[in-house]
Amino acid sequence: QAALVESSKRAAAFQAVADHLLPSYTRIGVGSGSTVVYVVEAIAALGPSVTDSMTFYPTGAQSEALIEAANLRLQYINKLAPADQLDVAFDGADEVDADLNLIKGGGACLWQEKVVATAARNFVCVADFRKLSDRLGKAWKKGIPIEVLPIAAPRVLGELRAMGARDPQIRSGLPGKAGALVTDNGMWIIDAPFAPLRLPSDEGEAAEGEWTVDALADRLIKIPGVAEIGLFSGKNGLEVASGAQKPVAAYF
Ligand code: A5P
Repeated sequence: QAALVESSKRAAAFQAVADHLLPSYTRIGVGSGSTVVYVVEAIAALGPSVTDSMTFYPTGAQSEALIEAANLRLQYINKLAPADQLDVAFDGADEVDADLNLIKGGGACLWQEKVVATAARNFVCVADFRKLSDRLGKAWKKGIPIEVLPIAAPRVLGELRAMGARDPQIRSGLPGKAGALVTDNGMWIIDAPFAPLRLPSDEGEAAEGEWTVDALADRLIKIPGVAEIGLFSGKNGLEVASGAQKPVAAYF
């Protein structure tokens, strides 16, 4: 299974770059995680004749290192003029639902990932076959990653429980050691498992504690102390390359 997953990630990444990195593009966002390693490999394989005219914007320390190691030109998103946009951003996901909503943040980079994704005219999600599911929360069972101000964490946990999250947890740093994981932004992550998230097309009444993706996203982001949430929804031009079969594409 592990080899199949890796080959699926790599196939999805090469397909996504072949389909969506146009030679005329000059500004490219590079997300985080293990799948994005293959995205950068696919970009670097195009060679300097294509990539020399391009500048790459990372979503955190990991993708910054990837860009530098591949000898691609690095720039930070705070240097992008407000009126300018990235041509495309590539990123992974932890889960992708039938409407192409995403759970992201398994690698704790969700805040910068959302800043980069929303600065891009096109956002291409690259995900292996395990990530596709009909409802968020069915495949990725660890919960929705939520980046929080450390002093607010206890109150945010209480709020999440009241909203129906089952046993939300502060993500720990090193496995087996005390202490919270600290993000690139000096924040903590809470993982909040909810019942599988409904879509607008779902029939029947929502049961107690069941949320739609959009209603939950709206509610979570308003909790004081929440910096950003790992639900990505409603982004125009989102496209998913699954690698397992022919890439799935959809626009909404
Ligand atoms: C990082 O914070 C995440 O959003 C990643 O994009 C996501 O966890 C996917 O990672 P993998 O490609 O390693 O599965």
